[in-house]
Amino acid sequence: MAGQSVSVWVVIVAAVAIVMIPTCTTAQLDTDVYMKACPQALPIIRSVVKLAINREARIGASLLRLHFHDCFVNGCDGSVLLDDTANFTGEKTALPNLNSIRGFGVVDDIKANLNSVCRGNVVSCADILAVAARDSVEILGGPSYSYEVLLGRRDATTTSINDANRNLPPPFFNFPQLLSNFQSHGLDLQDLVLLSAGHTIGLAKCTTFRARIYNETNIDPDFAASLKQGCPVNDGDNNMAPLDSTTAKFDTVYFKALLEKKGLLHSDQELFKGDGSDSDNLVQHYANNPNDFAVDFGASMIKMGNMKPLTGSDGEIRLNCRKIN
Ligand code: HEM
Ligand SMILES: *[C@@H]1O[C@H](CO)[C@@H](O)[C@H](O)[C@H]1NC(C)=O
Ligand SMILES: *[C@@H]1O[C@H](CO)[C@@H](O)[C@H](O)[C@H]1NC(C)=O
Repeated sequence: MAGQSVSVWVVIVAAVAIVMIPTCTTAQLDTDVYMKACPQALPIIRSVVKLAINREARIGASLLRLHFHDCFVNGCDGSVLLDDTANFTGEKTALPNLNSIRGFGVVDDIKANLNSVCRGNVVSCADILAVAARDSVEILGGPSYSYEVLLGRRDATTTSINDANRNLPPPFFNFPQLLSNFQSHGLDLQDLVLLSAGHTIGLAKCTTFRARIYNETNIDPDFAASLKQGCPVNDGDNNMAPLDSTTAKFDTVYFKALLEKKGLLHSDQELFKGDGSDSDNLVQHYANNPNDFAVDFGASMIKMGNMKPLTGSDGEIRLNCRKIN
């Protein structure tokens, strides 16, 4: 009996060790990092996000995008939040971000609340972005879109505009360019398809989809015609259109739209061309399986959130998310 249970344990321990290897070599993030240091941290973030979304639903989309743009530039290190200084020009004026990313006021609000309630500077700006993104998805999508965020990231003390211009994918990228961009960040085809569905919420400017609605053939003609009204050839650059038809609801309508050639951005429609590719099949699957989308989206968000976090004594915990201590 004893011998048998020992060998059972050896097998279990060995199995656990094998399962643990990949997580140990990537990041030492964990779900309960603030349990002792500031048990109110996560509820505070959620309540500020909830209030902001009640004021303006779109801010949830903006917060989700902020986490994505943070992670894709030198990892999830809060670098996107840094204002320019004498020592560096930050990410905010990079092409994909300029007059486009938003939500900084909400992050400031969250940070101020945390600094006063937590009795000290304990919650990193990078973690705030990860939690605010999850909360936004959950508030706009409902409980099935919830997932546990891994925490313990620290904040960068520098960044550069060039890193943002080099690493963020533009909307005119073709499928191979999108895939290789995601692969360069350690993400795969499934992550590309799932995370692109972040476009189930939020808006895009005319400049980002004009070429598609006037010049592309892989687009529903009525859909293109209706968009042209708000996005003339030579005018209305900053006019906005919804990224899918249920822009304040996190759902699978984004995928259903791709099946009908109603993706707003060129990069969106690149994921479904009707040619039976692996990407096509994933879009089709998630369009018809909302539960799979909910579960798999959370898994891809965690994977994105694990990109090159600063841990241990690297970086710092910023007092003010806009500047280094
Ligand atoms: C796959 C490559 C991607 C490209 C080329 C891309 C491109 C864009 C563009 C051009 C916009 C409109 C910006 C503007 O007009 O100001 C946008 C908006 C947005 N993106 Fe992406 N994106 C990509 C992936 C993602 C990912 C991975 C997420 C999150 C998981 C995401 C979340 C969003 C959200 C939520 C918005 C709306 C933001 C708002 O309304 O404030 N995107 N994206
Ligand atoms: C720029 O870097 C120098 C040297 O590290 C530092 O002393 C100074 O405070 C920095 N300036 C700003 C605005 O961060
Ligand atoms: C459509 O394509 C033509 C030819 O390449 C180009 O001159 C024109 O600027 C494009 N229109 C838009 C709105 O991108």
